[in-house]
Amino acid sequence: MTSDTAPGPEAGIDAEARVLHAIDRYRLAVMAELRSALAGRNGPPYSLMRYHLGWEDENGRPIDENGGKLLRPTLCLLCCEAVGGEPERGLPAAASIELIHNFSLIHDDLEDRSEQRHGRETLWRRWGEAQAINTGDGMFALAHATLLRLTELGHPPERVLEAVRMLDEATLRLCEGQHRDLLYEGERGISTADYMEMIEGKSAVLIAAACGIGALLGGADDAAVRGLYEFGRRMGLAFQVRDDVLDIWGDSVITGKPAGDDLRAGKNSYPVVAGFERASAEQRKLLEELLANDKPSDADVARGCRLLEKLGAREESERMAVEQGERAVTYLGDLPLNEEFRRDLEQLARFAATRSA
Ligand code: IPE
Ligand code: IPE
Ligand code: MG
Ligand code: MG
Ligand code: MG
Repeated sequence: MTSDTAPGPEAGIDAEARVLHAIDRYRLAVMAELRSALAGRNGPPYSLMRYHLGWEDENGRPIDENGGKLLRPTLCLLCCEAVGGEPERGLPAAASIELIHNFSLIHDDLEDRSEQRHGRETLWRRWGEAQAINTGDGMFALAHATLLRLTELGHPPERVLEAVRMLDEATLRLCEGQHRDLLYEGERGISTADYMEMIEGKSAVLIAAACGIGALLGGADDAAVRGLYEFGRRMGLAFQVRDDVLDIWGDSVITGKPAGDDLRAGKNSYPVVAGFERASAEQRKLLEELLANDKPSDADVARGCRLLEKLGAREESERMAVEQGERAVTYLGDLPLNEEFRRDLEQLARFAATRSA
């Protein structure tokens, strides 16, 4: 695949296999850092954190790892290495970002009333809403404690403070985005521009911060930190649009999340926004009824999916994800990066836009 052609579905599958290989490169080191962040902290709420992270079952017994893709820590370490840094010196930040991501997932599942993640019962479904809030809060604090381990690796204090500032700013933007996402649940006729601003906050800025912080810790200058941040921001937009596609048309065995949940929750996901733009008055009414229905039947949801597909919303959403992924790749062009890692970053951006997991 050349950098000037948009990938088709088959190229997407190839890219996915290569990317998973890139992710594997750091998996063991990231997992060890995450485990050491929780070392010596036993019993609840830490056992609930381990459950969410896919390390233990509900009785605290170890299970085969069943967590997330580690996309954000992988990006952080890739960016660190791409600018000539040693990935070991970015590990506390990579683990911290993964913990912030998971704190946001614990709360997001409660906010979205999602019953399953990674093919398992969500924390709030298993232990109740109050304990999910508390466990998420604890994971947020743990993320900060983990980030401060950077001071033990010989980074200058001002660099560590800048990493803390970038991560806190990203988390604030994430909360702004989540606020909008929830606010939009009751609204119809949201524009593409409103949607893009919302997902920039809720998803893209944390991915951007993962890249920017990795570059910072690798010793990059301000221009390279900014360039990789922008790369991550665009990639994050692609990632979330694709997430919305997978919610409706993905394979729930692969995503670990039940299909159609966004429609059941009345979300203005990208396919819904694109579908509304194309729908007739009668079709809009059908979609409005589905999204306003608190307990739609499986048949109602399936009808909504078919209508969105008929309206071209799936095609348009897939196109939008690929467009954002390709825009991300253009940000890499001007940056002085190690070539091997530049290629990995390109592949990750395309993975974000075409992934099936
Ligand atoms: C899920 O992110 C939340 C979104 C921003 C869409 P991921 O799909 O990266 O979650 P895991 O950690 O790999 O499960
Ligand atoms: C997730 O968006 C954004 C954050 C967790 C901040 P979604 O609500 O679409 O993520 P999933 O689909 O539940 O993973
Ligand atoms: Mg959700
Ligand atoms: Mg959500
Ligand atoms: Mg989603």
